Amino acid sequence: MKKDNESTIPDFILLGVTGQKEHDNVLFILFLFIYPITLTGNLLIILAIHSDSRLHNPMYFFLANLSFVDIFFSSVTIPKTLINHILSSKAISFVGCLTQMYFMIALANADSYTLAAMAYDRAVAISRPLHYTTIISPRFCVLLVVGSWVVGNANALPHTLLTGSLSFCGNTDVANFYCDIMPLLKLSCSDIRFNVKIMYIGVGVFSVPLLCIIISYVQVFSTVLRIPSTKGVLKALSTCGSHLTVVSLYYGTMMGMYFRPLTSYSLKDAVLTVMYMAVTPMLNPFIYSLRNRDMKAALRKLFSKRISI
Ligand SMILES: *[C@@H]1O[C@H](CO)[C@@H](O)[C@H](O)[C@H]1NC(C)=O
Repeated sequence: MKKDNESTIPDFILLGVTGQKEHDNVLFILFLFIYPITLTGNLLIILAIHSDSRLHNPMYFFLANLSFVDIFFSSVTIPKTLINHILSSKAISFVGCLTQMYFMIALANADSYTLAAMAYDRAVAISRPLHYTTIISPRFCVLLVVGSWVVGNANALPHTLLTGSLSFCGNTDVANFYCDIMPLLKLSCSDIRFNVKIMYIGVGVFSVPLLCIIISYVQVFSTVLRIPSTKGVLKALSTCGSHLTVVSLYYGTMMGMYFRPLTSYSLKDAVLTVMYMAVTPMLNPFIYSLRNRDMKAALRKLFSKRISI
């Protein structure tokens, strides 16, 4: 028996979103626009927040962190898809495939936990304003940010190790444009029952923040409804409305993808993943900045500073 296991593992083939050439072209053009917008938008948010001392508070630090995660999150899949399309190749090595999966899971979790931190921050600010600075202390913020990365990596590691130890015999066509856990499990010829259990635990860990977000917003709305003036209600709603839009987009598409039996997964579901892998990281900076006066002022300042230099 030969020992060079690794060299016998063939490349995986990324089938794209439908497996059809025309749709690959559409995806390529879409990503060609989305990716630079995502990078620029999120980078501007980080620069604007760090250069404006009025934005040096937890809400904006979390937003900067969200942008930071989003830059990496979209870089896990989009550049590979673009490069492969240019090279007319669909191949990805086994190690590349597992790397993509690892960072996809780690960053999606970091994203998810950061969104929860943002919701909790707003809930405390709106319903317990007098205790805000003691509850959301700088130390607590750092804890939440570091915690989101720790949970992300802790959730990614078991799935990656377990998937890496599976056998793949023959069929290596991954039914998506990147290496995602569901299409990979479907390809394996090993017994995947344990992997599937761990996968659903992972989906659970990923969904805990959603629960925190829902509880935070229930608290926000119950406080807002007690504010006598309609002006106060509208202001509070506009602050949180943008956040809720992102959250619904993100979790709506994620849940459509993972909250169901593995057997029902097919290539046509890959389209759904474009939404949270590529579209939400692009929309985040716009949704958070366009309706936010302080953020817009900071961006204007950033540009005028650059121009006057
Ligand atoms: C993330 O948050 C921490 C703590 O709130 C902050 O110190 C750090 O600068 C933020 N990161 C970015 C990229 O803004």
